[in-house]
Amino acid sequence: MADWYTWHDGYDEPGSGIAQRLPAVQRQIVAALSQVPPGRITVLSMCAGQGRDLIGALAGHPRRHDVVARLVELDARNAEVARRAAAGAGLSGVEVVVGDAAETDHYVPLAPADLVLACGVFGNICDEDIRRTVDMCAALCRTGGTVLWTRHRRPPDLVPQICAWFEESGFEQVWLSDPGEPFGLGAHRFAGRPRPLPRGARIFGTFVGPALGPDQQGGEFRRAEPEQS
Ligand SMILES: C[S@@+](CC[C@H](N)C(=O)[O-])C[C@H]1O[C@@H](n2cnc3c(N)ncnc32)[C@H](O)[C@@H]1O
Repeated sequence: MADWYTWHDGYDEPGSGIAQRLPAVQRQIVAALSQVPPGRITVLSMCAGQGRDLIGALAGHPRRHDVVARLVELDARNAEVARRAAAGAGLSGVEVVVGDAAETDHYVPLAPADLVLACGVFGNICDEDIRRTVDMCAALCRTGGTVLWTRHRRPPDLVPQICAWFEESGFEQVWLSDPGEPFGLGAHRFAGRPRPLPRGARIFGTFVGPALGPDQQGGEFRRAEPEQS
């Protein structure tokens, strides 16, 4: 049975959508880190999975010891993989929390952060929840900080709308993947003043489960259709 643990196997399949997406995400993480002034770098990752994007980008990075990160992941198996990977890479500032990433309380210790990761999220929640999550990024991200996000390009392609929502919420587009890529990836920098993060609130509602086959909708990466992620 496919689940969010085995979903990560796609990273080990050359040519899969998420295997192609990973280096692009990591490049954007490195670019975002390079914008942060000397000192502590704070990172929040919602629905972090096994943390392959952030942990891979930080391993060997000259500022890895500046990073204090909080990864929020519901599946304890994925969280354990992320914890071990972080420890193996000597990333003592990376904390992995098992919990519901929709709950704002998880982000209180580090918000507003220098970098917010919402990768593998927008393909698995409804449009209204994407809008709410984008808006909440104005409380999760510091002025000048970056949000990295992904969304598949299946029609109707919501990527342009997501970019518009970020702009309405005070963000400027830094980078957007080419529409011809088998994934959508955006980097938006926050130009506004962060709102206080509401405590005890929810950011999004139901998270759709991983798709098991070509006829099933919802999963951001569908194994049977590697051009989509
Ligand atoms: C599409 S995967 C993305 C994982 C990772 N961000 C990446 O891009 O490699 C979605 C992840 O969200 C996790 N997840 C699902 N619902 C969640 C929730 N309510 N809170 C936290 N994590 C959740 C799943 O267990 C899964 O690891």
